[in-house]
Amino acid sequence: MKCLVVANWKMNPATWREARQLFEAIKKAADRSAHLSVVVAAPSLYVRSLRERYHGRRLAFAIQHARAETQGAHTGDVSLIQSKDAGVQYAIVGHAERRAQGETDDETGAQVGEALSLKVTPILCVGEAERTSDAMYFEVVRRQLRAGFAQVDPSHLQRVIVAYEPVWAIGKQSAMRPRDMHEMAIFIRKTLVDLSMRNGPLPTNKKEPTATAMGVRILYGGSIDEQNAPAMLTEGDIQGFLVGRASQESARMRALLQALDAVA
Ligand code: PGA
Repeated sequence: MKCLVVANWKMNPATWREARQLFEAIKKAADRSAHLSVVVAAPSLYVRSLRERYHGRRLAFAIQHARAETQGAHTGDVSLIQSKDAGVQYAIVGHAERRAQGETDDETGAQVGEALSLKVTPILCVGEAERTSDAMYFEVVRRQLRAGFAQVDPSHLQRVIVAYEPVWAIGKQSAMRPRDMHEMAIFIRKTLVDLSMRNGPLPTNKKEPTATAMGVRILYGGSIDEQNAPAMLTEGDIQGFLVGRASQESARMRALLQALDAVA
């Protein structure tokens, strides 16, 4: 499985001109990174134009947030079906910054279901706001996973990507420790195995549910840069990253892709 790097530009950059420049720089760096797959999650206003100008194969596109409903009175929002029509192959679902604005667990479940039905790969973000000594953060992650996968057939779990982003590590100085990520990755896989069994054993012609659950790709997100990413990839039991700030500056993104390509 190639290491997947998702560039979450958030509400950046300010102009289309800068967006094009950043995209060109990422495109060049991605072309030199044979061991990586790169996905650009640009603001929705830029996605279609970037997609139409790009004729390569190495990069893919994601929407940062989109609603599950196909149409309706939702001022300011975009839908998953519009995003698909604009050319995205991935959709970030339930980012902590959306959850902080009121996005519910049920909405994330509906978005994952709708994305899959459109053949868009959902990147379901989960992660606790804080770490307390009673390990309640595992419960938070379990609840978010259950809700996010509520509409996913147990034999299709691998079509969803899980991005673990502890909210306390987003936009900070340092990422979480690789060994803590490793522990969380084990917990996420165990939870997915439990979910895959929820309807009892599947008919024998279907893929073994445990194997399917174990094969779900897990990303880490939260203050990743070229310094901390290599150790996280090799020791954290993950298969990629959701990157915020380091993906919004050409030089930092180039350095990150180069550092990861060397260890991937
Ligand atoms: P950061 O953002 O890399 O700037 O911490 C990560 C994210 O929010 O996806």
